[in-house]
Amino acid sequence: MAMKVRKAVFPAAGMGTRFLPATKATPKEMLSLVDKPLIQYGVEEAVAAGCTEIIIVTGRGKTTMEDHFDRSPELEASLEAKGKKALLEIARSVSKLAKITYTRQSEPLGLGHAVLQAKELVGNEPFAVILADDIVDSKQGCMKQMIEAFNDAQASILGSEVVVGDAISAYGCLDCTPDARDPRLLAVRDMVEKPKPGTQPSQNAIIGRYVLTPRIFEMLETITPGAGGELQLTDGIKALLAHEKVFGFTYEGTRHDAGDKLGFLKATVEFALKRDDLGPPFREWLKAQPF
Ligand code: G1P
Repeated sequence: MAMKVRKAVFPAAGMGTRFLPATKATPKEMLSLVDKPLIQYGVEEAVAAGCTEIIIVTGRGKTTMEDHFDRSPELEASLEAKGKKALLEIARSVSKLAKITYTRQSEPLGLGHAVLQAKELVGNEPFAVILADDIVDSKQGCMKQMIEAFNDAQASILGSEVVVGDAISAYGCLDCTPDARDPRLLAVRDMVEKPKPGTQPSQNAIIGRYVLTPRIFEMLETITPGAGGELQLTDGIKALLAHEKVFGFTYEGTRHDAGDKLGFLKATVEFALKRDDLGPPFREWLKAQPF
């Protein structure tokens, strides 16, 4: 019988070096786009896709994430006493989003290793993986689209987009052909993590969204260090190809690399402009600037 995707894993133990000094003592997942931390966008996307259990793989110095998704009795009592109902609702709703469990990655051995830490919590069922620094602005929700594609294909689905030129060297890259049945699907033949410029099999990058079958854990237990000396999720999925079909998936939406300073700035402007409360005055202010 086809299994439902109920769980979403958030690898969040990375050091966030691309965003220093902001990430020296603050997890990059807690950087705030307008007024919401990156990881909350990801958790809301998973919940909107039907996931009810969130598994966050954390590391040292990441406890603010646990506080963020927990109740905050002092804050709630203070807002209640002051009659600030709307703010109280905002504070409470974060802790009600989903059942959230934390597990630790004790050493920074790579993304594949981080996902492997969730093996027991996920168990023998398909699951989503979301990298919180990839923010996807999409009407339908990127993960929702991907889980629907998983339900149809009953095979692992990797979020994918075409990137230009040598930018592909910063990503996992798919060697793939368009699927005859669904124009959004790419049948994956092979894949490579961070190909050297000029050696990439295509311009199809993997983005930080995955729906994986549980067999990936077996694969992640056998892989050896790859690109950057790290245990790579891409290498685990490549090993999975020997046993199962895997598809790339062209989602509807715009991705922002919010783990990068320029990408973060662009996302901030776009998200602020879309807000009902901030958008109009922010647009006015932007228009009035001499730049
Ligand atoms: C990771 C993955 C890579 C993927 C990317 C998407 O790389 O290893 O395959 O393309 O996320 O954001 P990282 O950005 O951690 O270097």
